[in-house]
Amino acid sequence: VADGLQERFDATIARDQRIEPRDWMPEGYRATLIRQIAQHAHSEIIGMQPEGEWITRAPSLRRKAILFAKVQDEAGHGLYLYSAAETLGADRADLTERLIEGRQKYSSIFNYPTLSFADVGVIGWFVDGAAICNQVPLCRSSYGPYARAMVRICKEESFHQRQGYELLMTMMRGTDAQREMVQDAVNRWWWPSLMMFGPPDDNSPNSARSMAWKIKRHSNDELRRRFVDMTVPQAEKLGVTLPDPELRWNEERGHHDFGTPDWDELTRVIQGDGPCNARRVERRRTAHEEGAWVREAALAHAAKQAARTAR
Ligand code: ACO
Repeated sequence: VADGLQERFDATIARDQRIEPRDWMPEGYRATLIRQIAQHAHSEIIGMQPEGEWITRAPSLRRKAILFAKVQDEAGHGLYLYSAAETLGADRADLTERLIEGRQKYSSIFNYPTLSFADVGVIGWFVDGAAICNQVPLCRSSYGPYARAMVRICKEESFHQRQGYELLMTMMRGTDAQREMVQDAVNRWWWPSLMMFGPPDDNSPNSARSMAWKIKRHSNDELRRRFVDMTVPQAEKLGVTLPDPELRWNEERGHHDFGTPDWDELTRVIQGDGPCNARRVERRRTAHEEGAWVREAALAHAAKQAARTAR
């Protein structure tokens, strides 16, 4: 490392200023960011599938339009994030290859099935709610392009979270069968949503370095606790029960106590053995292959345009 570069990097981090694409950065910092941003981008793109399956079956034109817009937003989030990864020297085609070959991860949460329309509401409420808890602090992440992408993504996530909660409020005002659908979806999604925040702090190999570099601002457990505190009153207002017998308010700590997620399940799902992993990756692979002609046509068009300007 040339004289002073590491010191300048350390000072920028210490002053809470941003590292930008042209700045010198340690290779470990670059690799960690590419890993996290790529995983995040893949999550947005794979995350289109569980809800996308309900677009043709949405119960009204209004619900269909909302769901369409939401799933399109997720595609947009994936694209900003791939662009942020490209500012670090990653190649988007290569990242996609890694995803469909199972060499890069995406969030465990998208490997669970969406069995009823209530799942669309619960995904908005829990999954997008968890995404907000995790991602609002990432707006202050030390890497400029990632932090800036997060600002817009978080605004859209807030809309997604509200549409989910509003959908559930509507169902809870409906029939007994609709209320049962909501409770069933809550029961199935609660624990996987807590797992989204990652393994517990004593088993999170990347946290210490990522926090020292201010890529991550809070630990996995801290964000998980915040999510529980935020969600419990919302569940009460909605009139559903969160499926955790250990969940209760702890007056002394000023936070909720809650049970332990099944960490073996998280490990299995991350390793590819969740209920829908194979289906999700296969769908992504097919879409990529079927889109080859679009990429070829776009490249041919760009080459023609470039040749015309060069003339
Ligand atoms: N699903 C899949 N993989 C996970 C999950 C999860 N829920 N949680 C942790 N992992 C992986 C990590 O990527 C890491 O794998 P790797 O080292 O092989 O790359 C390993 O498990 C160990 O975890 P940590 O050391 O805790 O990893 P990290 O410090 O990266 O923290 C976290 C994980 C919290 C997910 C972090 O990467 C993060 O904040 N990412 C940005 C947000 C994000 O990706 N959200 C996606 C879902 S939200 C949405 O799209 C709506």
